Amino acid sequence: MSEPVIRMSGIEKSYAMGENTLKVLKGISLTVKEGEFLAILGPSGSGKSTLMNVIGCMDSFDGGEYFLSGKAVHLMNDDMLTDLRNEYIGFVFQKYHLISKYNILRNVMMPLLIRGQTAAQAEQTARERLIQLGMEDRMEHKPSELSGGQQQRAAIARALAGNPKLLLADEPTGALDSATGKEVLRLFCELNEKGHTIVMITHDMNVAKNAGRIVHIVDGELFEE
Ligand SMILES: Nc1ncnc2c1ncn2[C@@H]1O[C@H](COP(=O)(O)OP(=O)(O)OP(=O)(O)O)[C@@H](O)[C@H]1O
Ligand SMILES: [Mg+2]
Repeated sequence: MSEPVIRMSGIEKSYAMGENTLKVLKGISLTVKEGEFLAILGPSGSGKSTLMNVIGCMDSFDGGEYFLSGKAVHLMNDDMLTDLRNEYIGFVFQKYHLISKYNILRNVMMPLLIRGQTAAQAEQTARERLIQLGMEDRMEHKPSELSGGQQQRAAIARALAGNPKLLLADEPTGALDSATGKEVLRLFCELNEKGHTIVMITHDMNVAKNAGRIVHIVDGELFEE
């Protein structure tokens, strides 16, 4: 058996609020195996983004253990976390976060260039990813020249460019109309069928039910469906 992609237990995180502390994650335990498509579903303020930042190695936490593909995240310093994040995780955000001055091809090349690939290597991989996602005739366009759905496709191509262990999406259909949102969700299902491990965070049950498994986050605690 291979290591789970995510194995966390007892994760706690609080924010200082003046004299008080606000406990936002109250002992989160979660295991996600390779090849799973998991939705984390919860209402506003339940701790979704806080948990996403922990899973994505973007933020520290106060207690508990987190292993990402067997790597002990809770023992790492910031530099190690940055390297781990770049290598293991592909992010998809609600608002795409593409760089507006670069064309789509260059956007998808960026994470590969950051990892130290040559421009030629990065371009080849980026082109392959964009072709896979049906974006071959939009590569030379700037993000502003694309529809929302096309921008999200480009963002997904960028997230997958480095072949990450985990695709981590925060409300990936939140900025899209419902038909385009469905297309993006279908794409996630296809990617999952091809073996990609996906964790998607959402407040919308209709979005969550596309995943193979749903966990609920309520007031900083997880409940399995
Ligand atoms: N940097 C911070 N400092 C203080 N409190 C914070 C901070 N970030 C989040 N919180 C608080 O933690 C709680 C959880 O916030 P979080 O952003 O994780 O919720 P969420 O489930 O993502 O909500 P939404 O669906 O509205 O995005 C909220 O009460 C929020 O006010
Ligand atoms: Mg949020």
